[in-house]
Amino acid sequence: MSDLRPKHIEQEYSLYMDGVSVSFDGFKALNNLSLYIKPGEMRAIIGPNGAGKTTMMDVITGKTKPDTGTVLFNNSVNLIEHDEASVANIGVGRKFQKPSVIESLTVFENLELAQKGGRGIWQALLHSLSNERAAKIDETLELIALSDKKYEMAANLSHGQKQWLEIGMLISQEPELLLIDEPAAGMTDEETMKTAELFKKLAKKHSLVVVEHDMDFIAALDCKVTVLHEGSVLAEGSLESVQNNQEVIEVYLGR
Ligand SMILES: Nc1ncnc2c1ncn2[C@@H]1O[C@H](COP(=O)(O)OP(=O)(O)OP(=O)(O)O)[C@@H](O)[C@H]1O
Ligand SMILES: [Mg+2]
Repeated sequence: MSDLRPKHIEQEYSLYMDGVSVSFDGFKALNNLSLYIKPGEMRAIIGPNGAGKTTMMDVITGKTKPDTGTVLFNNSVNLIEHDEASVANIGVGRKFQKPSVIESLTVFENLELAQKGGRGIWQALLHSLSNERAAKIDETLELIALSDKKYEMAANLSHGQKQWLEIGMLISQEPELLLIDEPAAGMTDEETMKTAELFKKLAKKHSLVVVEHDMDFIAALDCKVTVLHEGSVLAEGSLESVQNNQEVIEVYLGR
């Protein structure tokens, strides 16, 4: 595919977002927002309520069309031209806050249904799985620490375990870029820390953009942090550097 980057950008990016603005009835939810994510990078996005974090994900996934700006995937795919289903097919996976696991199926069956190139529900339930597919599911179970819950009904999982299953289902579709909105919400402290460990493992194979309010979780991710405020990037850098940034302190304290 042809390279759509502006000529002066030489770096390879998994996600290249530049000068993106979105208005809702004249209110600028995103205001000249830029975000550049390298392949295999994990990036944490923080910012007060209403900063535009979820709207940013809506734009990347084709749910909301920006008024202006550029959104490229792997330097070559113009995501603005694609709808939600197509963006998912191209390799951008999104996890919403509310888990969408099927409670009346086992953990294994949920992962089977989610697999890339997977079969429909009836085929999945009536026919046995190829060894290769079965091995992939075991690998995913191991990654999301649910191997011992393989045949458990999803309904019986804790909130945190359901979130992990959902992440497992998401990676079963083999996305290159993962967008995850508030994964630690409602989790116990222990689940939160385990989730950070899981994400650090995922970042080796995928690019990850993680929105979260929980600062202990962000600290555990140990990655570059972008602070959004009023639809723009207010600060970017290590967690320590943004926490010591005077403008960031004012934005958080002024609320
Ligand atoms: N579809 C919409 N129509 C009108 N206004 C919207 C729409 N979606 C978002 N907004 C507004 O845009 C602003 C940014 O919202 P957004 O949900 O992106 O913030 P956020 O950073 O995700 O906040 P939170 O931390 O509370 O999840 C808010 O003022 C919100 O009310
Ligand atoms: Mg949000």
